[in-house]
Amino acid sequence: MRLKIVAGNWKMNLDFEEAEDLISAIADELENIDLGHAEVVICPPFPYLEMALDIAIESDFSVGAQNISHFDNGAYTGEVSARMLASMDVDYCIVGHSERRKYFNETDEIIAKKIDQAIEHEFITIFCCGELLSERQAGKHFDVVREQIEKAVFPLSEKEFYNIVIAYEPVWAIGTGVNATPEQAQEMHAYIRNLIASRYGKDVADETSILYGGSCNSKNAPEIFAQPDVDGGLIGGASLNADEFIEIVKAIL
Ligand code: 13P
Repeated sequence: MRLKIVAGNWKMNLDFEEAEDLISAIADELENIDLGHAEVVICPPFPYLEMALDIAIESDFSVGAQNISHFDNGAYTGEVSARMLASMDVDYCIVGHSERRKYFNETDEIIAKKIDQAIEHEFITIFCCGELLSERQAGKHFDVVREQIEKAVFPLSEKEFYNIVIAYEPVWAIGTGVNATPEQAQEMHAYIRNLIASRYGKDVADETSILYGGSCNSKNAPEIFAQPDVDGGLIGGASLNADEFIEIVKAIL
């Protein structure tokens, strides 16, 4: 049975005290919830990872990084390596987010190197893909997503691919308040699962968690998560409020 996941991507938000308050509030609320086979992941900014990990020891969530370097080690000022994060016991990392592609010029080639680093250090990697509005309007959304996945993920062996979670995040839905409809999400998720089946076989595809991200909130999550190929969500803005985030978590249970 494939894992259901709700992951909070905090992006570059909150000061330390706010971050500690939020994560403590989420931990408190999780105490009253039986997650069963579902997983909650919190991806705070780098400086807050240790604090998050400390709280996670007593709670029922995992901690993820929002980014990793595509370099292994050495003189790369400002970078944070997969090796460093692995040595802190961070379990998850996000790779290929559209904001990294847009603002930091991350290409499919760089993203593929980051995935290699993440795999080498045994992270569960949340790989983000998704089309721009103009690409969807031009009817190219399936091709764009296929190319992103083929270039960055499909070089992996079947064994390596087991540590990949896919997040479909249409760029036009991120931070806009305009979410993909449940039908649009399901259509793309089913397409992605078929792609995975054609590369790794049906059994692997059936085990792969495919998350939806883009203006997901407690109101739209139940219907989106009810789709057969949607296995949870990667949540931005709505993950910055404990009550809202917990309602989203409940929507996958
Ligand atoms: P929003 O939920 O704020 O639209 O962000 C989604 C996202 O980018 C998660 O990675």
